[in-house]
Amino acid sequence: MKNGIDLSQKAGLSIGFDRDLERLFFTDSLVSVQPDIRTWYQMISVLSKCPHNTPKEFYQMYRGLGNLTDLSLLDNLGLRFDVTVIPPRMIGTRGEISMGGKMPQEYIKTLGHSHAMPEVYEVLHGEAIYLMQDSIGSHSFAIHAKPGEKVIIPSFEGHVTINPGDDYLIMANFISSRTVSEYESFKEMGGAMHFFLNSGEKNRWIANPNYAGYDLRDPVGLNAMMPLDFYKSLGFSREEPMYTSSKRKNFQNLNFLKKPLKRDSVDI
Ligand SMILES: [Fe+2]
Repeated sequence: MKNGIDLSQKAGLSIGFDRDLERLFFTDSLVSVQPDIRTWYQMISVLSKCPHNTPKEFYQMYRGLGNLTDLSLLDNLGLRFDVTVIPPRMIGTRGEISMGGKMPQEYIKTLGHSHAMPEVYEVLHGEAIYLMQDSIGSHSFAIHAKPGEKVIIPSFEGHVTINPGDDYLIMANFISSRTVSEYESFKEMGGAMHFFLNSGEKNRWIANPNYAGYDLRDPVGLNAMMPLDFYKSLGFSREEPMYTSSKRKNFQNLNFLKKPLKRDSVDI
């Protein structure tokens, strides 16, 4: 493959990523899906400071992927499989934030949202930080995940995905196709409780001042796929794509995505 990333082994679907075009491509019997693009204009309200060098295109969302034979089954079950691509980019900042006198930059991230039903993510390529907070912003968690690792987002938990690496982050998710994502609270609060910034060699969490009065200690660091027993009960392992292990169970293992799931109930 010329200047591309073959994702078929990691995703369990015949897809790849063309680095020159910066787009996914689809092979075999896979139905081609056009991405929704998250733009600078949509992101401006959730960035750490007024950016002075920003990419026009932040990230790409490919929704409703699947083999032709699986798509109607997934649709009947009210489930959707998506892939998101976040390029390696730093977002310039200006303003009062100072880190050792150097001008910091913010790692590229998603806008942030929450939904009533849970969701499961899987890193296919690159690395991710899943930053999560509950609906009243009383705590914040960060899970650093690598290829093959899965991360469950409990109900109503606000979540932002950060690409902290120097390569493309490509990740998949299963979610109920009937749950609605809520973006407004992140926009109103100017982002999540924390921003992940870099200044030279140093990475640092910076608290979002709009959350004054909340517990703004650095996010608690958690490991991906903990507790492992819960993930095993779904048939998930690091070695196998969740699409493949779920298909083997006719996607019935994903029924948990159609009911509310509290953080406490999975003990994460
Ligand atoms: Fe989500």
